[in-house]
Amino acid sequence: MVVGVGGGAVTDLAGFVAAGWLRGVRWVAVPTSLLGMVDAAVGGKTGVNTPAGKNLVGAFHPPAGVVCDLATLATLPPRDLLAALAEVVKCGFIADPAILGPVEADPAAAVAAGSAVQRELIERSIQVKARVVSADLRESGLREILNYGHTLAHAIEKVEGYSWRHGDAVSVGLVYAAALGEAAGRLDPATAGRHRAVLEALGLPVRYDPGAWPELLATMRVDKKSRGARLRFVVLDGLAQPSILDNPSDELLASVYREVSS
Ligand SMILES: NC(=O)c1ccc[n+]([C@@H]2O[C@H](COP(=O)([O-])OP(=O)(O)OC[C@H]3O[C@@H](n4cnc5c(N)ncnc54)[C@H](O)[C@@H]3O)[C@@H](O)[C@H]2O)c1
Repeated sequence: MVVGVGGGAVTDLAGFVAAGWLRGVRWVAVPTSLLGMVDAAVGGKTGVNTPAGKNLVGAFHPPAGVVCDLATLATLPPRDLLAALAEVVKCGFIADPAILGPVEADPAAAVAAGSAVQRELIERSIQVKARVVSADLRESGLREILNYGHTLAHAIEKVEGYSWRHGDAVSVGLVYAAALGEAAGRLDPATAGRHRAVLEALGLPVRYDPGAWPELLATMRVDKKSRGARLRFVVLDGLAQPSILDNPSDELLASVYREVSS
């Protein structure tokens, strides 16, 4: 049995080692970061990031168990904790709107390590991810909704040479995906606007360099999640109603970027 105690990098590595040892031994994740708790440790994706890119070396190997001790969050740098809340907000928009109310009502409690509000947010986010990955471990369909906001986010991370926190990039990506859904006639303006409001209330970034669009678009095209040269975006048809926007036009993508980065 392998036990990984640490942030997402550690639990990803522990799971990957467990997947390879004797062609797979049991492992337990003990995530100590908020991102680890709500995302990395749940779902069975394990691996190591290499200079060639993220998500290229790894294995699907679900843990036998995940143990979250919320007391560990007390020593996590507050900025890391905040960034991870972008994934929590994502879970609220794609599947569990009950996550959004407490964040809107008291953003300070949401970012306060160990608060009762934060505990509820963590539990609900884990339930969202666990439900989705239980239905679709190997990403043949439903699991793709977890990529909400991630198409642009991954491009920002790459353009920034991975110096941005993942959650910060996801925050910008969520605002973009919401505006894209609205511009495509899928999402109502109120729900789209709610993305920016919630993320801004937490203190997360909601826009990125207006001049970076050509580089971001080129980067998204080589993202492994796009099929061939066609870009696929997870968008919302309504609150908690994720769907796919396949092959949107370059004009639409660029005009939405102009709008959200201005
Ligand atoms: N497998 C998946 O599905 C999945 C999903 C999302 C992210 N990830 C991976 O997770 C990693 C990011 O996870 P992360 O945000 O936890 O980053 P991380 O593991 O790199 O940890 C960030 C920093 O925080 C420190 N740290 C962790 N817990 C702490 C604590 N309680 N107190 C003080 N310091 C602490 C770590 O030592 C590290 O220096 C990336 O490698 C990413 O690829 C995997």
